[in-house]
Amino acid sequence: MSRSGRSTVASSMDLRIATARERNLLRSVAIFSDLDAGAAAALERLAETREYAEGAVVVSQDEPGDALFVLVSGRVKVVLYGESGREIILSMFKTPGDFFGEMSLLDHQPRSATVIAAERSRLLVLSRADFQAHIEAHPRTALRVLTELSRRLRHADAVIGNLALLDVYGRLAGKLRELAAAEGEDHEEGVVLRQRPTQAEIAAMIGTSRETVSRVLSDLARRGHVVISGRRLLLRRELLVGPPPER
Ligand code: CMP
Repeated sequence: MSRSGRSTVASSMDLRIATARERNLLRSVAIFSDLDAGAAAALERLAETREYAEGAVVVSQDEPGDALFVLVSGRVKVVLYGESGREIILSMFKTPGDFFGEMSLLDHQPRSATVIAAERSRLLVLSRADFQAHIEAHPRTALRVLTELSRRLRHADAVIGNLALLDVYGRLAGKLRELAAAEGEDHEEGVVLRQRPTQAEIAAMIGTSRETVSRVLSDLARRGHVVISGRRLLLRRELLVGPPPER
């Protein structure tokens, strides 16, 4: 197995051979879903597993990219840092089978962003050489990668539009609707998020401060649009449809 993808943060991770169950996960990754059993098994034999502690850096912006990562368990965030150290969250990956790190492998440029374990996380790793050999032999994987890149670009377009066009109420309501659509559970009064992101994470996703998120969430709660109970959040129906609530 190629080891060229090994991270520089050895102290925060634990490297091991992937178990059969972890390797099977590769079949559920969107970009590999067209593979026949033989091709999937060949790819699975190449994967190794790494475990990262909460807060550990998986890839660093501007460093060369040498591996593709697939989430087995846990949660990672894709971030950019400003001069002052302020963090912007571009994306969160928390569904087993989510993948990242493909951009540097495709365009041979340094990592476009930093990826941090937002909680203890286990990742499958495919080296650059193994991923490239696989893509050359399986053009359908390349088409699937293009589909996923288009989806991510659409999402980035929507985020840019929201940052430019909506006030902080609209941006927060938009983010809550997006979370509700992705992971909400139906409730008689609306939709429940069982484990919403922290206020600091929401702030970093919508380009504002944690204090502002706290103030706007409290205001939405006072007006009955949301019910907050720790990390559990009930979004009432009126927040899920219609225009963003104004101050
Ligand atoms: P790469 O540039 O190799 O390393 C950082 C990774 O973060 C990148 O590949 C993508 O997999 C992921 N990434 C970067 N920007 C975004 C984004 N806007 N949305 C989702 N994922 C992203």
